[in-house]
Amino acid sequence: MSMRPLLRLRFAAFLALAACGGGGTDTPDPVGPPAVTAVSVAPATLNLQGIGATGALAATIAPSTAMASVTWSTNNAAVATVTGSGPSATVTAVSAGTATITATSGGRSGSATVTVTSTVRTLTLATSAFTLVPAQPQPLALTARDEGGAVITNPAVTYTTSAESVATVSSAGVITAVAPGTATITASAASANVTASVTVLEGGYVTASGGTITALGGQLQLVVPTGAVSAPTALTVRTVSTPPTNARLLANTAVLIEPAVTFASPATLRLRYTVPLAADVVETQLRLARLDGSTWQEQAVRVVDRTNRRVTALASTTGTWAVFVPPPSLRSFAQLAGREVGTAVSADALRSDATYRQLLAAEFNSVTPENVMKFGPIHPAPTTYNFADADSLLSFAAAHNMTVHGHVLLWHNQQPAWLTVGTPTRASLLAALRDHIQTVVTRYAGRIATWDVANEVIADNGTGLRASFWTTIAGPDIIDSAFAWARRADPNAKLYLNDYAVEAIGPKSDSMFALAMRLRAAGVPIDGIGLQAHFLVNPPSLAQQSANVARFVAAGFDVRYTELDVRLANGTDGLAAQATAYGNAVRACRTQLRCRAVTVWGFTDRYSWIPGAFPGFGRGHLWDDVFAPKPAYTGFRDAWAVP
Ligand code: XIL
Repeated sequence: MSMRPLLRLRFAAFLALAACGGGGTDTPDPVGPPAVTAVSVAPATLNLQGIGATGALAATIAPSTAMASVTWSTNNAAVATVTGSGPSATVTAVSAGTATITATSGGRSGSATVTVTSTVRTLTLATSAFTLVPAQPQPLALTARDEGGAVITNPAVTYTTSAESVATVSSAGVITAVAPGTATITASAASANVTASVTVLEGGYVTASGGTITALGGQLQLVVPTGAVSAPTALTVRTVSTPPTNARLLANTAVLIEPAVTFASPATLRLRYTVPLAADVVETQLRLARLDGSTWQEQAVRVVDRTNRRVTALASTTGTWAVFVPPPSLRSFAQLAGREVGTAVSADALRSDATYRQLLAAEFNSVTPENVMKFGPIHPAPTTYNFADADSLLSFAAAHNMTVHGHVLLWHNQQPAWLTVGTPTRASLLAALRDHIQTVVTRYAGRIATWDVANEVIADNGTGLRASFWTTIAGPDIIDSAFAWARRADPNAKLYLNDYAVEAIGPKSDSMFALAMRLRAAGVPIDGIGLQAHFLVNPPSLAQQSANVARFVAAGFDVRYTELDVRLANGTDGLAAQATAYGNAVRACRTQLRCRAVTVWGFTDRYSWIPGAFPGFGRGHLWDDVFAPKPAYTGFRDAWAVP
């Protein structure tokens, strides 16, 4: 940088004066401070966090001997202001943005860049109290402002809920009701947070417009006059003349209307009411129905108070409503008891009989193929498999949320002719069974939860193993191999040893126990014991059956009743004893949590194996041959129904 001529002259004079020691008497030319050649500001960039934050800047003047005053300025006072006149300055943040702060001295200047980052100082909610019903997400309308009061768009906010079980909140601030209760939702950003309180109401959506419910004839009906807007002071229960088919209206219900009934508008009139439940009402079966013209439209209702057995519903549109329970099903009770209630299924009946299908789906949550997975039916020729019927049953089971118990891999009955012709050897039988198990179990792996691997291998007199086709030719260790092959084909299926006349402790049950223990000690993968339970009217007592179940459970096995039926001699009554026998099997099973299921061997006398297998006997099932429930059904159901 070159000096201007006048300055250069003055500077030369100043140097000359200094060289002569300043002791001269001549009056020197007036000499000022040296001219400023450069001004710099440090730091070159300054970040200020938050409105009102301050930072320091310092100016350096070259040459250092120049004694010039400094003027500070900002190019954007809306973002940052600056004060200071000497070399030091204080910068104050005003709002988010960038400003250039300049120090000027002696005609020279230097600058620093100041960035103001604003932080969220306040959060506000449009509403801080929410009332939600389940499955109705609602956004939290949140406004974030910075320190200066300016709105911050897209602030970084974190949301938390005090009770996930009541209401959840997404990262975008949408709250979703989960179950009745109250929760606090907190939104936090920087130093600010705000809370909303959420009350989740019970789920039903009955609606009323200032209606009344009264008890008349012991049946509940909510009658809603159209167009009314005032809060109901009384509700009326009326007799419903055309209740939903296949339904039982709740009898003798009292209805309590909670005092705080809110009405947003006639169209969204809502009221809450509570219905006490009768002792035999199963929570999962409770339904709410709305009369729409002449048809009942069903809607599920949540039960919120299991202890006091009450359901509370939220009502919301005009119309006629009823609370009712369909007849309790076996499967709903079994589900409450945490077990499976199963039945053997006839492929023919499944294919051809709609009533059969309907009852099957409504009442059972587990199925066993009665015949179609047996060796002969499913593997009729050495390289031919017939999976069609088994596949149909599995589709039906999947469609109706049922488990499948596979039956059966190793058995001495219903074998195909090809297996026994010629002179089968140990080697040929092992090879055939291994191929069979690999093929069948692999095909259904993941879809069959439990398998009867070996069936009826105990001798009838209880003295050890039955001398069967398989064990005689191939040796008793074919049983061990069958379990091992099944495990390899589906590692997740539970593998059972299944037999009859083993439902009370005695010689045959003892032999089964000994075999199960031997298998396990030998490392054979056996998980469970299947008790067939083909009973006559006077089967082992409840105590005997319970002790038997307990013994297997104590030894570490799962247990299931796999083929329960109670046959009656023709010409005898026996229906009451039959009902007791059915009930006791369930009661015995329910004494142990590891008794996982009670499966009946067919549910209707219409398609019974009994008359064919036991001439002179019949009527062994829960429903008769025209699908009317028998006392056995009630006896069986009641044993499931007790809590
Ligand atoms: C029966 C079927 O119910 C009949 O339809 C078939 O004719 C013979 O087999 N123990 C069992 C079952 O393990 O497989 C049997 O099923 C009944 C006895």
